[in-house]
Amino acid sequence: MAALRAPALLRAPVPPRAPVLLLALVAAAARVPERCEVPPGDRFDCGAERPLARAGCEARGCCYMPGGPRGAGPPWCFFPRGYRSYRAENLTATDAGYTALLRRCAAGFLPGDVGTLRLDVALETRARLRFTLRDPASRRYEVPLETPRAGARAPGALYGLQFSQDPFGIVVYREATGTVLLNTSVAPLLFADQFLQISTSLPSRFIAGLGEHLTSLMLDTSWTKITLWNRDMAPTPQVNLYGSHPFYLAMEEGGLAHGVFLLNSNAMDVVLQPSPALTWRTTGGILDFYVFLGPDPKSVVRQYLDVVGYPFMPPYWGLGFHLCRWGYSSTAVTREVVLNMTAARFPLDVQWNDLDYMDAKRDFTFNKKTFKDYPDMVRDFHQSGLRYIMIVVSDCPGFTSFPITEGSDLLHKGLQTRAVGRQDLAVVWPGPTAFPDFTNPETHEWWYDMLKEFHDQVPFDGMWIDMNEPSNFVEGSQEGCPSNNLENPPYVPGVFGGRLQAGTICASSQQYLSSHYNLHSLYGLTEAIASHNALVRIRGKRPFVISRSTFAGHGRYAGHWTGDVRSDWEQLYYSVPEVLLFNLFGVPLVGADICGFASDTTEELCVRWTQLGAFYPFMRNHNDHGNRPQEPFAFSPAAQDAMRRALSLRYSLLPYLYTLFHKAHSAGETVARPLFLEFPGDPNTWAVDRQLLWGAGLLVTPVLEAGRTKVSGYFPAGTWYSLAGDSTIHSKGQWILLSAPLDTINVHVRAGHILPLQEPAFRTAESRKKGITLIVALTTEGFARGDLFWDDGESLQTFESGDYTQLLFVATHGALLSELLRTSSQADGLLLKAVTVLGVTSAPRRVLANGALVGDFSYRSDTQASPLEGERCCPPWAPRSWQGTVAVEPV
Ligand code: NOJ
Repeated sequence: MAALRAPALLRAPVPPRAPVLLLALVAAAARVPERCEVPPGDRFDCGAERPLARAGCEARGCCYMPGGPRGAGPPWCFFPRGYRSYRAENLTATDAGYTALLRRCAAGFLPGDVGTLRLDVALETRARLRFTLRDPASRRYEVPLETPRAGARAPGALYGLQFSQDPFGIVVYREATGTVLLNTSVAPLLFADQFLQISTSLPSRFIAGLGEHLTSLMLDTSWTKITLWNRDMAPTPQVNLYGSHPFYLAMEEGGLAHGVFLLNSNAMDVVLQPSPALTWRTTGGILDFYVFLGPDPKSVVRQYLDVVGYPFMPPYWGLGFHLCRWGYSSTAVTREVVLNMTAARFPLDVQWNDLDYMDAKRDFTFNKKTFKDYPDMVRDFHQSGLRYIMIVVSDCPGFTSFPITEGSDLLHKGLQTRAVGRQDLAVVWPGPTAFPDFTNPETHEWWYDMLKEFHDQVPFDGMWIDMNEPSNFVEGSQEGCPSNNLENPPYVPGVFGGRLQAGTICASSQQYLSSHYNLHSLYGLTEAIASHNALVRIRGKRPFVISRSTFAGHGRYAGHWTGDVRSDWEQLYYSVPEVLLFNLFGVPLVGADICGFASDTTEELCVRWTQLGAFYPFMRNHNDHGNRPQEPFAFSPAAQDAMRRALSLRYSLLPYLYTLFHKAHSAGETVARPLFLEFPGDPNTWAVDRQLLWGAGLLVTPVLEAGRTKVSGYFPAGTWYSLAGDSTIHSKGQWILLSAPLDTINVHVRAGHILPLQEPAFRTAESRKKGITLIVALTTEGFARGDLFWDDGESLQTFESGDYTQLLFVATHGALLSELLRTSSQADGLLLKAVTVLGVTSAPRRVLANGALVGDFSYRSDTQASPLEGERCCPPWAPRSWQGTVAVEPV
């Protein structure tokens, strides 16, 4: 059954293979003690908003069983089975799906309880359905995210749907297997003005998402409370951090996967419990759910990105190495850093400055003494092929500030009409501060004016937007916050600091679109949109924006760095799952501060971090002020060598990385991806978060612990060639101990893939002109494929306007074919210089390129792991004639 056809079915709500629902419904008529006989792992909290004693709990009709630490395990006060909150009426089929009214069965116990709700279900595509629960009598805040329009109901759906009438529940199951993916009848629905709660069963304990937190890739379902409310907070376990992504992906038996997205931006908790089950508990807005049926995890990610938007295409230079620190106190110091990088022969594409450049830490100003020649410095950097990015702190000096240029009062005027909360001043770096309200379209114009005026002086290439949770050094404002129900809601999620205003501005500050209470977690996203769009107008080139605060959909406009990570091994590890999760969230341009930000790094940690950082999609070394220097040149010759090797490896892989970004941008793929995305059928991969893949073809196994020269990695079944070409793993799906001396990071190419590489250089502008090498990693059947996307690296919309080159490579039957799918002038100058074939089982007799004999090839039979592999040849392919064949003829 694909979906409910008639309201009569409301009385027969059990999907064919969903016994869990039956349990939830038959208990309705049972005696009270029986109703309370709920196994601890299946109990849902009936007193989440305040601890209740027995009398208060039972007055709600709930069960009271104290035991274990309060708040850290099963709730003491929990709903009995069959607890009736809403019942469904008038379920009707519509063009898009279904609609129904839900009525309260008895008076609710929460202030502002909503008596009648409207359910709308839209069967949007075969794999995506959406359901919303709204108050039909009043217009409540909804997240202003543009989402695809629902058309008529999609035929051939992968999901089946059932409803339970009383108490109301919705069940989504997978048509092909009968697995129940979502079942909200496991606990009552609650819908009050500032407290909305809905629970669901989960089909497995393997669930990833719900960022941003310092966490392993798979979440812990044994009573974990996950709080979403953007917060300036140095990454700490179990604490709400800089971003909110209310989306999860769950694995099902057999390697299938589905995803759920709650489009809601209010402060919320998500509770995971052992049954396994999940409860969403949010403090405003509406309940607006998307369910993605996959059926494989990659499709789930793409389906999620169909809703929130595919990632923007970064400029090529943005994939090079970025260097930054807080404490480059003058242009002289910044210039010296660049000179030292060059002298020590390290690649560098983008030099950054932190607050140091500003005059009294005010945005859009620069220190006329220490940064006197600031505009010249940036121009000089450009001359040497470097790009330049500086910090912008989104907090604008308050009304007392002076304008950036004599006679300009833009700042003053802009803030008077466009600041969040107008008169309430926060305190950030410059002192009293107001935050521009980026939900107001006029602010976007003002922001553009400010940036344009600054760019006319200092021609920066990209923006680093910081402190945009927004962060505040006083709670609320200098004057405190008013006393009202937004500042003191009946339920405060588990936010760090215990109050919504902690570390930020007053919740009841008014913004153009709604209250800050509703819009808080969108601050960074709205600033990213304004900055992205301003940069497009100012530079006429692809924008590059890196933001600390994020929300669902952020990847369309900007990237993210993971904030103030500590320089220690634990945080080095955590950066792997964080990078992987942000790829699932559609923000592939992500990385942590290499060598760590807070506290002094060590040489060994910094080497290992640089090796891993070479595989962050966004690679930046950044350091806190006062710490020991951690630029690559600041270490011993041996450490420098190791870092140089890591950087050259990255620079050689940039054509492959760029092609992956193109696929993220054009097809909703991930760039850095967890193993389970490629190998969902192998459950051993599901929780692997100490390794990462680039695309489908490259597996990175970093050392994440001190003092180790060996590292253990999981290799899914198949053949894996070391990128260095010196060893081969034929895995049955097993853990393998790899040698990993300090100068080495293990990188393996997966058989069946062809990777385009390029000779490295000190700038991407140079490496882009170098010869391309193809690494052809043959399967045991002698097959491989790959591709290359190429354009000028920075024009806007090259893919959309068709101004790009695309090549497809296929290796089969002893020949490598290169097929030109599309060409633009950008292919001029791009030369194929070498081909390395891995997995040639016997020494070839001869090699032909486009029919002509190639003399310059070699064959390695000296490698330990697989002596008969390695083939190198240099076919004479010219620019614009990439169409061709290399044939390797066996003896
Ligand atoms: C906080 C940011 O997270 C950090 O990266 C930056 O260096 C400081 N602000 C100073 O701007």
